[in-house]
Amino acid sequence: MAYKVCIITHFVGRLKFSMPQKLVVGNWKLNGSLAANEALLKACEALAGADIAVCVPFPYLAQAASLLNGMALGAQTVSEFKSGAYTGEVSAEMLAEMGCRYVIVGHSERRTLFGEDDDMVGRKAAAALRAGLVPIVCVGESLGERDSGRVMEVVGSQLGAVWESIGAQGLSRAVIAYEPVWAIGTGRTASAEEAQEVHASIRRWLAKYDVPAAEIRILYGGSVKADNAAALFAMPDVGGGLIGGASLAAGDFMAICRAAVAKRDC
Ligand code: 13P
Repeated sequence: MAYKVCIITHFVGRLKFSMPQKLVVGNWKLNGSLAANEALLKACEALAGADIAVCVPFPYLAQAASLLNGMALGAQTVSEFKSGAYTGEVSAEMLAEMGCRYVIVGHSERRTLFGEDDDMVGRKAAAALRAGLVPIVCVGESLGERDSGRVMEVVGSQLGAVWESIGAQGLSRAVIAYEPVWAIGTGRTASAEEAQEVHASIRRWLAKYDVPAAEIRILYGGSVKADNAAALFAMPDVGGGLIGGASLAAGDFMAICRAAVAKRDC
């Protein structure tokens, strides 16, 4: 009996050990100024028990890099190209040189406002990996797609294009962010159960395509606030959050990060 308990404890212990801690990423979007960034970053800091990153606008990368307080740096998009006559583009190699660890690819705002399609998102994920960055691959359905029962059809084809580009091995080095379009900036978050259902489906999708699904962090994004973060992070397949509006207020962002620390063993 004691032996059995010991085996079970050992197994559960190993499982917990192998689960990465939660990752909380702030996506500042098109916000900030030198003065506001300094005040915000000086009031934020790394916490033991969670990974924290901020994805800032390109011109502020150098400033943010000098004020990270142990947090990681990221960008919000990247060129699919490495160099050349591509006016206005910023390469993954440049981001790496500026100290970035992460880059968001395929955010729904890039897809809908700037015409980025699934294949381009795949190429951007490949560019990120080529430079040693971790792509945060955003997927998510519109309200109409949810209402017509097409959530995994949409999310599956978004993921499929990335898989075509970087394969299972590339995806194993990525972070996925499930961001239902109807929950972004609307104050209407998916319930923890709704998020869990899609995250579990994404994990099954990854496993089907030979990605080591158990190890992939799947973040939830869309109106995550200090008062709903704990419930979302308590879900077994929610590996953290991608935070928009609430990442612009240090108190709110840190409260969300503390919720991630508290749920790190879930
Ligand atoms: P909000 O947290 O403002 O809803 O934005 C979510 C998002 O788009 C993060 O990438």
